[in-house]
Amino acid sequence: MLPGMRRKAMEPAQVAILWEANAESWTRLSRAGYDVYRDALNTPAFLAMLPPVSGLAGLDIGCGEGANTRRLAQLGARMQAIDVAPTFIRHAQAAEAAEPLGITYQVADGMALPFAQDSFDFATAFMSLMDMPDHARALQEAHRVLRPGGFLQFSILHPCFVPPYRKVLREADGTVRAIEVARYFDANQDEVETWWFSTLPAEERQHVAPFRVPRFHRTLSAWVQNICQAGFIIEQLAEPCATAQQAAAEPVIADTRVAPLFLHIRVKKTGGPDLL
Ligand SMILES: C[S@@+](CC[C@H](N)C(=O)[O-])C[C@H]1O[C@@H](n2cnc3c(N)ncnc32)[C@H](O)[C@@H]1O
Repeated sequence: MLPGMRRKAMEPAQVAILWEANAESWTRLSRAGYDVYRDALNTPAFLAMLPPVSGLAGLDIGCGEGANTRRLAQLGARMQAIDVAPTFIRHAQAAEAAEPLGITYQVADGMALPFAQDSFDFATAFMSLMDMPDHARALQEAHRVLRPGGFLQFSILHPCFVPPYRKVLREADGTVRAIEVARYFDANQDEVETWWFSTLPAEERQHVAPFRVPRFHRTLSAWVQNICQAGFIIEQLAEPCATAQQAAAEPVIADTRVAPLFLHIRVKKTGGPDLL
């Protein structure tokens, strides 16, 4: 490609195909406990920042196999959830059939939500918005389906510390010394990253194909611009950092004590009665 030429953006259908291909093994491995960042740090921090949701109508956008949706239902929220990958939704529905929590799941695209405006009191998106090719559109859709006064809380890879190039630098004894980052200003539109959950044993890696995850990096200022242009105001940010005890229990998350891996953002649709 010639310098200055912009690569064609990945089609949403291609993103959906990639996630559908990940969904079976992602479900099996995350349910087996290999999504350690999510379970040991990211979801607990997200829920700690979440306002009370008991009795509220919520939408979980990009719900995967539904683990976090179930957590919201267990907090008393009346949940609906969508994901672009049918296999994730099938597994989420099977979990709902086995242990009903009143959650309705459906296959849908976060950039074209199949709900009327003002349908929900709140929405969540756990590590899914950054996987959508058009973040601005996804935020506009979340804004549309929320009622005035409602909120959206979402987690993403931290744009500043997880740009397209990131390397954890370690001391000889394995402790994390620093995080090296580069390519922050590359708003790449069609890179596909290939990886396994960090703790997946070598023998499993011989049998399980790595995930292929489309990557749509944007700078922090682009995220803030998209949030504001969608009509939201920012209410709270968090950058989860493992405690010394958490890092001792799950050494893989120790890098988050040096610099954050995740960014949590809560935004509010203005107007109407305050929920918070
Ligand atoms: C990193 S996974 C997170 C899954 C789940 N929220 C969790 O925390 O375990 C990202 C999810 O976003 C979904 N996703 C990606 N693009 C989407 C889109 N355009 N619309 C809806 N879901 C999408 C993927 O299928 C996948 O389930």
